Amino acid sequence: MQTAPIHFDTFNALADKVAQIRIEEARASLGKRAVLLCHHYQRADVYRHADITGDSLKLSRLASQSDAEYIVFCGVHFMAEVADILSRPNQISILPDLAAGCSMADMASLAKVERCWRELSSVLNPDETVTPVTYINSAADLKAFCGAHGGIVCTSSNAPKILEWSFARREKVLFFPDQHLGRWSGHKMGIPLDQMVIWNPDLEMGGLTVEQIRNAKIILWHGYCSVHQMFQPSQIAKFRAQYPEGKVISHPECSFEVCQQSDAIGSTETIIRIVKESAPGTRWLVGTELNLVDRLAEEVKHEGKIVQFMADTICMCSTMQRIDPQHLAWTLENLVAGNVVNQIKVPEHEAKLAKIALERMLDAS
Ligand code: 13P
Ligand code: SF4
Repeated sequence: MQTAPIHFDTFNALADKVAQIRIEEARASLGKRAVLLCHHYQRADVYRHADITGDSLKLSRLASQSDAEYIVFCGVHFMAEVADILSRPNQISILPDLAAGCSMADMASLAKVERCWRELSSVLNPDETVTPVTYINSAADLKAFCGAHGGIVCTSSNAPKILEWSFARREKVLFFPDQHLGRWSGHKMGIPLDQMVIWNPDLEMGGLTVEQIRNAKIILWHGYCSVHQMFQPSQIAKFRAQYPEGKVISHPECSFEVCQQSDAIGSTETIIRIVKESAPGTRWLVGTELNLVDRLAEEVKHEGKIVQFMADTICMCSTMQRIDPQHLAWTLENLVAGNVVNQIKVPEHEAKLAKIALERMLDAS
């Protein structure tokens, strides 16, 4: 039975303990009609309710395989968009707080990417020579741009494979919005650093000369993650001096220097797997978001493994944090009452093109 949507104001002041109980009750009442997907950076008081946890690639695959009517995405906006694009027509993707965005995704907009494409056209024919590759951390209209221009999506776990796919088709890549993932993946393929140039969207011709554009293999968008840029090579040096036997693992959104000085690089799912599979007693320094690192440290401490956070200061994905127990309880109780709140719906023409770029990625990885 449908009633008027319950306003969030009545949940704002809900005590955490009460919110937990109300989430559990709402989930019990919804049963299999709702699936709760949680990214690894999600705060513990929400993560504990997850049906499925994972990195962006795993979650985008599983979102499309679920039978649930409601996909409640405890992540950030672009993740809920991907779930909507890949889900069946009768499924509804929901983001419990619409303010949960990704600051890196916001660094590239369709208008700026289209301008870049136009400016590149004055030097070369991009539709024949440049594959646009968008990191999954981007808005749906940029995925649609890639779908329309022979391009593709990548995630942190398949970027080198996606670059191979791209170079098999065209001689250059325009990679947005994360310069670090693009640079590290290009480096892994053996592309020299001087053939990976930065496109600054606020400057004419990206701030590049015609010669730099002609010589480039990868044109990297000037975007980055504010969380991962907090990690520094000096933090790794300090750790190594103190614990020479210790291991360092980082996310590829970290700077090139941090990646270079790490023993292993991987997506959130890969970081968790490698640390869990390591020998008992291993000490790790981890360069990724704090919620993941704290949880991992707890999960492996019984094996004598020590997991340390790389930065000296607290750095969390503050936007993902916005999905708190209060918003989750509000979302679920509305569903129980027959009201859908915070649905993420990508316009059909955009979703169709974005799906092409996403499916190219799923087939290639
Ligand atoms: P993963 O795909 O590795 O989970 O990364 C997503 C992300 O946003 C990292 O900042
Ligand atoms: Fe975006 Fe960085 Fe948060 Fe990942 S950690 S979702 S890249 S802001």
